[in-house]
Amino acid sequence: MPGPSLLILAGDGIGPEVMAETRRVIDWFASRRGLAFAVAEDLVGGAAIDAHGVPLADATMAAAAAADAVLLGAVGGPKWDALPFARKPERGLLRLRKEMDLFANLRPAVCFAALAEASTLKPEVIAGLDIVIVRELTSGVYFGTPRGIVTEGGERVGINTQRYSEGEIARVARAAFALARQRSRRVCSMEKANVMESGVLWREVVQAVHDAEFADVALSHMYADAGAMQLVRAPRQFDVIVTDNLFGDILSDLAAMLTGSIGMLPSASLGARMANGRTKALYEPVHGSAPDIAGRGLANPLAAILSFAMALRYSFDRGDEASRLERAVERVLAAGIRTGDLLALGGRTPVGTAAMGDAVLAELEAGLAAG
Ligand code: IPM
Ligand code: MG
Repeated sequence: MPGPSLLILAGDGIGPEVMAETRRVIDWFASRRGLAFAVAEDLVGGAAIDAHGVPLADATMAAAAAADAVLLGAVGGPKWDALPFARKPERGLLRLRKEMDLFANLRPAVCFAALAEASTLKPEVIAGLDIVIVRELTSGVYFGTPRGIVTEGGERVGINTQRYSEGEIARVARAAFALARQRSRRVCSMEKANVMESGVLWREVVQAVHDAEFADVALSHMYADAGAMQLVRAPRQFDVIVTDNLFGDILSDLAAMLTGSIGMLPSASLGARMANGRTKALYEPVHGSAPDIAGRGLANPLAAILSFAMALRYSFDRGDEASRLERAVERVLAAGIRTGDLLALGGRTPVGTAAMGDAVLAELEAGLAAG
């Protein structure tokens, strides 16, 4: 019997390369751990534009909505930069997020012990770092209207609208508080309530959800600019950070570099519960398509592989197998194996994408042998 369905959308740039390694990991869990998935592959982003003229075909959208989980690589690249806005590769990803209603984007920033020295920050600031940014993903300035470029008084004006309803804020706040309960029970909410009404409402609603339903979790509030400063000054003060779509986009790239490389960060985008009890979900590395190194076998596949670990944990209730995979990654790094993005210091073994995949598979096998 085929297991739960997984749709792989490798996308553009280094997407196909990192997803090929992830696919080998998925196959390992099927053959060695009995976790069979019905895996299908399809196109998104520039690859879909080249094949279908649109960044996400309707049939692909329907397959994603029906899948138990979607694994995405990356979208975008210089080849499609000149396209009109509505047809750019990124619109494919944004359509997936919006139409699957994936409102809670979990972006963990964990500093693996072996990588503390790879960060541009001092090891003593980031060693042992383990935080999660919960980014609202379906609203805010990414989707608010009115938007566009209009002509006013003889010149063009670019317009976007930051917009949040109480319900949109409350549901992502709940996701953050629930996650904090499984961790250190601390949530810091970030907005700009000092300059934006949407921030004032954000703060009010997060506080109200907390007081009514999650009084056991410690809640603090910070302006997002101060939050950025605190993230580089003393990142370990945080446990769960909840923030809006745009601030979350920026703060999660910042948090990525605390861990040594953006090539390390997985993410889970979660929505509502489906009829079969599963949560709608899409898993993707936080990094982009990295056109500068695409097609050269140099990319770090660990963020994509760790995104599959998140799928095991959050979609398939196999936290045990997720930890198995994360431990294998940790041992690979401890052994000094590094893709180019992690090669900050000498004395390491430089490898490419496939060799990094080999190393993870070897550690998974070694982990089985060790029992
Ligand atoms: C991310 C990316 C996307 C975003 C782009 C590719 C549309 O930067 O997932 O962080 O801005 O959300
Ligand atoms: Mg981003």
